[in-house]
Amino acid sequence: MKILVTGGTGFIGSHTVVELQAIGSEVIIVDNLSNSNIAVLDNIEKISGIRPGFEQFDLADQALTANFFERNHGISGIIHFAAYKAVGESVDKPLHYYRNNLVSLMNILDGMLTHGITNVVFSSSCTVYGQPDELPVSEQSPIKPAFSPYGNTKQIAEEILHDTLHAYPQLRAIALRYFNPIGAHPSALIGELPLGIPNNLVPFITQTAIGKRQQLRVFGNDYNTPDGTAIRDYIHVVDLAKAHVVAINRMINQNMKKPLEMFNLGTGTGLSVLDVIKSFEKVSGQKLNYVIVDRRPGDVEKVWADTSFANNELGWKAKSTTDEMMLSAWNWEKALAVNEKSNS
Ligand code: WQD
Repeated sequence: MKILVTGGTGFIGSHTVVELQAIGSEVIIVDNLSNSNIAVLDNIEKISGIRPGFEQFDLADQALTANFFERNHGISGIIHFAAYKAVGESVDKPLHYYRNNLVSLMNILDGMLTHGITNVVFSSSCTVYGQPDELPVSEQSPIKPAFSPYGNTKQIAEEILHDTLHAYPQLRAIALRYFNPIGAHPSALIGELPLGIPNNLVPFITQTAIGKRQQLRVFGNDYNTPDGTAIRDYIHVVDLAKAHVVAINRMINQNMKKPLEMFNLGTGTGLSVLDVIKSFEKVSGQKLNYVIVDRRPGDVEKVWADTSFANNELGWKAKSTTDEMMLSAWNWEKALAVNEKSNS
């Protein structure tokens, strides 16, 4: 089967491409490379032995997207990752986020309707829950007002899917609500490639340890949690990628219970910032230089997933331990350092 993966050179996208190729799918990637690197294609090919199809353009461009669908036939399903994802940046550039994240989705839905493509998997986020009243958070938990324009784009995107599927009953969609994806492929050939200073915890930890950053700042130790630092549900990117393969197969094999389904993708375990640091120190054998500073504005205190619906309905479960995730992230950072050295 032929699958269009938008944002396929990005962090989660590239890992999903590899998993799709492993089950024999033909993959075509569309990415504008605004937050990824063309060299990812070479590394996907090194892992799988297959170079995915690739087109570079902006899916927020209606004419280019329509033209892509005119030229590419036989697509069985779409996995739509392409989006901006930095929470802080979205506060400063809201229109940038609304335009990119929502117009691209609408252009893709237009292409699906025009060309009889019925299946789309959408990258959603646990940010749709805000700070939940009850933990763990299940798919039935209320959607709270978004904390950021980024979070709002994910909420609105789910509403766009809901309304479009209502109007066009031939369409089906699965929204996957990611918790905190971390780690890298075991080959250390693909992983997270933050542009500039990382926003997220794990790349900041590994960059500090390798010497690219001086010190990690731990944002707050006065939360209502056992060690005072904020709690998240960190999931290995390879486990997450595998869930996309399950989701697209579920649609293509017509096993869905409703036209629009939502699933939480996490491990079900909450880890504090200090838990993550401890695991990193254990697997890397080195002490991390960190300091406790004030809370980061906009951060929720604690969130972790009730994964029972995804586990039971998809027959999928995140398998990796925290140490495995941290070790893969560290191996990836070290491989990047070796590459940078040999290129300099
Ligand atoms: C994790 C924890 C920080 C950096 C991300 C995405 C968001 C969503 C969920 C999918 C927090 C702390 C961080 C640092 C720190 N995913 N931290 N020092 O904010 O949970 O959100 O995952 O859509 O889009 O951005 O992840 O990795 O930024 O932070 O102490 O330098 O680490 O305060 O408690 P977050 P994160």
